[in-house]
Amino acid sequence: MPTYQTPSGPILGYEDVGHGPALLFLHAFPLHSEMWRAQLGLFSGERRVVAVDFPGFGMSPAAGPGLTLATHAKAVAELARHLGLAPFAAIGLSMGGYVALELASQAPELLSGLVLADSRAGADAPEGAAAREKMAARAEREGIGFVAGEMLPRLLAPSAEPDVVRFARRLIARASPQGVATAQRAMAARRDHHATLERLRVPALVLCGAEDALTPPAESARMASRLSLGRLEILPGGSHLSNLDAEDAFNRALVSFLDQ
Ligand code: MLT
Repeated sequence: MPTYQTPSGPILGYEDVGHGPALLFLHAFPLHSEMWRAQLGLFSGERRVVAVDFPGFGMSPAAGPGLTLATHAKAVAELARHLGLAPFAAIGLSMGGYVALELASQAPELLSGLVLADSRAGADAPEGAAAREKMAARAEREGIGFVAGEMLPRLLAPSAEPDVVRFARRLIARASPQGVATAQRAMAARRDHHATLERLRVPALVLCGAEDALTPPAESARMASRLSLGRLEILPGGSHLSNLDAEDAFNRALVSFLDQ
């Protein structure tokens, strides 16, 4: 997996496969780019598909503690420019969606489309931000041993297939304590992006697992209602990591959006 030293600081690991119209996949917390392996396999026959690791996850080393979602997006935009990727459709799930919204705000000229899956455009309430600070401090103190146990019940429904749970657990095990701490603090400080959705001038798709308890369908409906060129699809049987536990429905929705 190649890495790129961005001018703004973070080193980003990324997959870059296939040729054709470009897609950029942005992962959920606390996983990494491998969560998109089914989508990379599906789309790389006809498209160029890039999947990035955020700092401290997958192959990206942790960056300084001061990273925000805006600086994540800045580094991702630098990588996209370095790779000559634009115009591309950005596809972000959850934290990946938060970064995609920052990207849409900072560098709309790079985008040909936007897919926000199991995400939200609002900022954290104070209790949510406090819970994130607790996880950040605990990861710094203890390492990430507790993270899978705490996150998995929120990421996947109790009915999730054991191999999906194992896959997610394996990906989470690759997170670094500093990555977990930095991402939690960055998410806690994120800004509201409903106005970004209103300004968006490219086609957009909002996806959400019907059983997503972490970013429920109501959040997705709220995002979709702000889009002039967007639509909402709720994925039956999907929970928060809907590209994993509602893979077929997720892929069908993505194919039909990208082919339109
Ligand atoms: C994610 O799935 O990226 C995160 O759990 C989202 C969040 O904590 O808000």
